[in-house]
Amino acid sequence: MSKSAVAMSGGSLPPTALILGISPAMERVRSCVERVAVTDVPVLIQGPSGSGKEVLARWLHAHSPRAQGPFVKVHCPAIPEMLLESELFGHEEGAFTGAVRAKPGRVEEAEGGTLFLDEIAEMNSALQAKLLHLLQDGEVSRVGGGEPRPINVRVMCATNHDLEEEMRAGRFRPDLFYRINVIGLELPPLRQRPQDVMLLAEYFVQSYSQRYGRPLAPLSPSTLELLQAYPWPGNVRELENLMNRYAIFGSEAVIVNELLGKPAAEAEGAVSLRRVARQASLDAQRQVILQVLHAHQWNRKQTARALKISYRALLYKLRDTGIPTRRTGRTSARAVPPIQ
Ligand SMILES: Nc1ncnc2c1ncn2[C@@H]1O[C@H](COP(=O)(O)OP(=O)(O)OP(=O)(O)O)[C@@H](O)[C@H]1O
Ligand SMILES: [Mg+2]
Repeated sequence: MSKSAVAMSGGSLPPTALILGISPAMERVRSCVERVAVTDVPVLIQGPSGSGKEVLARWLHAHSPRAQGPFVKVHCPAIPEMLLESELFGHEEGAFTGAVRAKPGRVEEAEGGTLFLDEIAEMNSALQAKLLHLLQDGEVSRVGGGEPRPINVRVMCATNHDLEEEMRAGRFRPDLFYRINVIGLELPPLRQRPQDVMLLAEYFVQSYSQRYGRPLAPLSPSTLELLQAYPWPGNVRELENLMNRYAIFGSEAVIVNELLGKPAAEAEGAVSLRRVARQASLDAQRQVILQVLHAHQWNRKQTARALKISYRALLYKLRDTGIPTRRTGRTSARAVPPIQ
């Protein structure tokens, strides 16, 4: 594996330790991040929940000229809509009932640093307009009037919504989209980058075994195959949590039992009985095939024999049930020294 496959990591899961991986999608991210970090341009990070949007934003900040300044995160959905404006932009004394004294907002707190707006799609149109004003003119006005104040912040945004879709639906301002999306980074779901699963798994095992002071054997090839075959609906967060549990209990049975006991990704959308029946059948077949593959150290010929089907039929079944049909080369995070 190339040295750049692990972009940066350090100690035991510091918030900016970032494993970029070796999948083509992450190669694209890697080709951008180092160049983007040192600039001041806004960055938009899109990807599903648990795919690493925050860890990437923190890494970009830590490697930017603003690293000594604050990193202020605002998780928009966590703040009631009525309060979000004053939370972000602050308020003047008497701006509303209960505003007994003036208060700076999170934008002002980020002065000299980075403002990370998480789940930006949740902002209403009035707030979108205020954010646009900040990005265009570099100033904010607190709720309740007062002079606009000049602000020096770098804005990074994240979302797990499709912002282009939100724009088409009229829920997100196109002018704001183009302002925040000067650099767009896309983190795909983990199931679309099976090449990265082993790298991340080994990194988490190593980090948690260090944290708990408990040396752990590297994961067996058979368990690594199981990890690659799993669809990871919770993305990297789910993988990290599982490796954490493995490090706590010290037994691969934790991983095997958990992954073999789970059906493939849930059926989406409207319920169709035929689809449910087909999905149930595929889940059952998938589980049996995975168990037999695991029992035969992922030897496909032996697995086909044990299942009393032809090798060719097994390959079709693997495809239909979403189990990888080709081994991906084993890589080791341990072999790569972290780049600080
Ligand atoms: N590339 C990565 N390298 C190292 N750790 C990662 C990576 N991606 C995700 N993680 C870990 O997975 C967990 C989830 O990551 P993070 O919080 O960045 O996801 P997110 O995309 O912001 O999710 P959400 O949309 O739910 O907020 C964190 O504990 C983080 O450390
Ligand atoms: Mg997040």
